[in-house]
Amino acid sequence: MDKIKVCPSILSANFADMGAEVRSLEENGADMVHCDVMDGVFVNNISFGIKMVEDIRKYTKLPLDCHLMIVNPEKYVERFAKAGADIITVHYEACKHNLEDVLKLIKSTGVKCGAVINPDTPVLAIEKIIPLCDMVLVMSVFPGFGGQKFIKESLDKLRAIRGVIDKLDRDIDLEIDGGVTLDNAKEIIDAGANVIVAGSAVFNAPDRKKAISALRG
Ligand code: DX5
Ligand code: ZN
Repeated sequence: MDKIKVCPSILSANFADMGAEVRSLEENGADMVHCDVMDGVFVNNISFGIKMVEDIRKYTKLPLDCHLMIVNPEKYVERFAKAGADIITVHYEACKHNLEDVLKLIKSTGVKCGAVINPDTPVLAIEKIIPLCDMVLVMSVFPGFGGQKFIKESLDKLRAIRGVIDKLDRDIDLEIDGGVTLDNAKEIIDAGANVIVAGSAVFNAPDRKKAISALRG
């Protein structure tokens, strides 16, 4: 497998100093920046939107991984792409009936696309569309907040999706998001994830460089 990519979630950053926070991720060895967009409808929290992505774009060259926890994501993907997203992921639960079209729409804007499943959604729900994805994201907490406990059953989902990906002749990333710590990163990587999102484990660490490096398993 390729190198493990660590993708800190800026949901745990200091929003009043976001430029410096994003720069510090790059300086400390992060591979991507995970941008959690929440609308207060799809999840019970409101984070930030297009303008934040546009502004942090000026502070880093790292790819911006935009995780849209919003209803009707198709309404906004073009604007997130224009704002500087490098990859946009949308929830199966937010577009059950048009996921394939939304993924194609994302691709048509020139950025990478991904599908996300919540902890209570089976792999079967997205299995057929995996070949259309550049990345598949498995939520290991119910989305909405950082700092929650990792749901262990997610490891089985990672193994199942890794099995599907490995049979395809395509380079598809497998990302995990929620409750990742320095203690469980290794078993997550062993289960098949190659993109590791971590919010509190990076931003609350006394030494971000060490934390980012330790998250590689
Ligand atoms: C949860 C978000 C996550 C979250 C991760 O809804 O999608 O990206 O910020 O935070 P930690 O790593 O603290 O669980
Ligand atoms: Zn996320």
